[in-house]
Amino acid sequence: MSAKALRIVRRALRWPLAAKLSGANAVLLLAAVGAFWAVQRGSHLVSALAVAAVALCGGVALNVALVTIALRPLHELEMTAQRVWRGELDARVRRSPVADGALERVSQAFNLLLDSVLADRTRIRALAAQVIETGDRERAALARELHDSTAQSIAGISYQLIAAEQMSRDPVLTAQLAEVRVATNAILEEVRLLSQSVYPRILDDLGLVSALRDLARRLGKGKEPPILVEVAPAADRAAQRLTADRAAVLYRVAREAVGNALRHARPDQITIRLDATVGRITLRVEDDGAGFTPAADGFPKGTGLFGMRERVSLVDGRFDVSSCLDGGTIVTASIPVTAPDRSSLHASSRE
Ligand SMILES: Nc1ncnc2c1ncn2[C@@H]1O[C@H](COP(=O)(O)OP(=O)(O)OP(=O)(O)O)[C@@H](O)[C@H]1O
Ligand SMILES: [Mg+2]
Repeated sequence: MSAKALRIVRRALRWPLAAKLSGANAVLLLAAVGAFWAVQRGSHLVSALAVAAVALCGGVALNVALVTIALRPLHELEMTAQRVWRGELDARVRRSPVADGALERVSQAFNLLLDSVLADRTRIRALAAQVIETGDRERAALARELHDSTAQSIAGISYQLIAAEQMSRDPVLTAQLAEVRVATNAILEEVRLLSQSVYPRILDDLGLVSALRDLARRLGKGKEPPILVEVAPAADRAAQRLTADRAAVLYRVAREAVGNALRHARPDQITIRLDATVGRITLRVEDDGAGFTPAADGFPKGTGLFGMRERVSLVDGRFDVSSCLDGGTIVTASIPVTAPDRSSLHASSRE
């Protein structure tokens, strides 16, 4: 077919579907009437019937072909929506040179919509990252203040009380001083615990595994159910290679997941487990409590689950919550041990 004829066919294919079908059927009808008239003059009935049958079959075939070509963008639209739903956020509907014009415009509008959703999502994630980082920085500063300044001052008062007790000759006063000292020490302990829960310095000092064991010890105290910590040998080694921010992500996920289990699930037992595969470390927090059905609209009441998911995705990790009523809950966070080398990624994608 010559280039000009091809252009005409393409332009015709861009007409609205109703116009294309009416046009094609009119042409067919005219051709069939012409052919019928031609053979009728020779009065061959069989030939006339054959022409009518060919015209009918041709008409059906042409209609099917036109409808299929015209509606192809709908299939493409569905496929693209599914890919985006699966997480391929850069999937877009491809332009078709022969698609129905109206449907092609719908496809382009859909692509524009996806572009703006992606841009909004990028902005929201940047904002979430800023909120999380600012919160972490402020908490770290508060914890430092509590530990280094407030706790030290209270410890100083406690030492002065001991000295005063030793110098006192009055037994009643000595007993009162001792009481005040005990109360002061209790406050000191509370301030240290508060400082530790606001920002776990043990994470910086002794690493993730010790911090998780400390968390289990502190939260599993008293009437609370036992919190087990299981660390695979490979995970122990991987945890030592984690940068401070990555270790903090897993620690905070563990703390929120354990906190959720204690607050919402009434479990008999909670298990924190660390596993590692090549280049990845995986945290699993499992409870055998009440379980829950994730919010139908995808937006839970609190911010805990949202915060965990965001923190994990900020370090290119995967986050998952599986839960069923009366069947317990499993929270899984899996992150790369080291940040992917962006420059080498770009280099290899250019190759
Ligand atoms: N381990 C769990 N067992 C049972 N229900 C849970 C568990 N984890 C979460 N949930 C349910 O999911 C909801 C959302 O949890 P999320 O941590 O996001 O918020 P929250 O704990 O209610 O409040 P916040 O964490 O903001 O203080 C909870 O209110 C609870 O109903
Ligand atoms: Mg919570």
